[in-house]
Amino acid sequence: MRVIVQSNREAVGRRAAQFVAELVRREPTCVLGLATGGTVLGIYAELARMHHEEGLDFSRVVSFNLDEYVGLGPSHPQSFRYFMQQHLFDHINIDVRNTHVPDGRALDFEAHSEQYEKMIREAGGIDLQLLGVGTDGHIAFNEPGSSLGSRTRLKTLTEETVRDNARFFGSIEQVPRLAVTMGVGTILESRRCLLLASGDAKAKAVRDTVEGPVTAQVTASALQLHREVVAVVDEDAGRLLERRDYYRQVEQAQTLLRSGQGMNVTSNS
Ligand code: F6R
Repeated sequence: MRVIVQSNREAVGRRAAQFVAELVRREPTCVLGLATGGTVLGIYAELARMHHEEGLDFSRVVSFNLDEYVGLGPSHPQSFRYFMQQHLFDHINIDVRNTHVPDGRALDFEAHSEQYEKMIREAGGIDLQLLGVGTDGHIAFNEPGSSLGSRTRLKTLTEETVRDNARFFGSIEQVPRLAVTMGVGTILESRRCLLLASGDAKAKAVRDTVEGPVTAQVTASALQLHREVVAVVDEDAGRLLERRDYYRQVEQAQTLLRSGQGMNVTSNS
């Protein structure tokens, strides 16, 4: 896993947006896997800026979101579909028909989950999956104990996640207890993953993800098995990483190589 430590949350968003923009420029019909939550606000703001100021073109991009709360429809202000419209889709030229978010009000979640996986396959698979990490080490809503081979399905949220996400709702009682989420196995099939984290509250989850053992108790640690993952974290989220100095040296070497030889920036996994 390549680890990039940035000075602060804003720098994480800007650096991560460069990876997305590079892909969108190189492959205008690419398939993006998208996430919601506080962590991704910076990258979405930067992508919107790049669209307006630099003409970054999303018109042929296809997207699939990781997850959705069960029971919330697209017009609910806390639904992830609403979040995506508000923070990204309404600010870029993506065709809304090419955007996919699981349906939190599906009548048959098993059938819906299978259909979601099928749509991802038919789109050619996800080229770049954007991920945040929960304080309990989850990716998407794959809570501790989720199978590392899991596929899209219903998942019960842990108390920790419900508490963490209560900030987006009026009270903890309003946070849905169930979500429909891509599985760890679904995520691992993406061609590349971009994991973002900022803030002190994520420090332990980041250390466990990057340097801990691969375990279903920290589902983000399964990313160690993926061949192309870039983690962009800020100083606070990265403060418990033991090999921070080495990660910095790798980035310095990458910069030198790129300037000298046009080196592929995604190597050093
Ligand atoms: C959201 C998602 C979650 C979040 C994670 C971090 O679509 O899949 O895994 O990425 O809970 O959330 P924030 O960024 O709000 O700390």
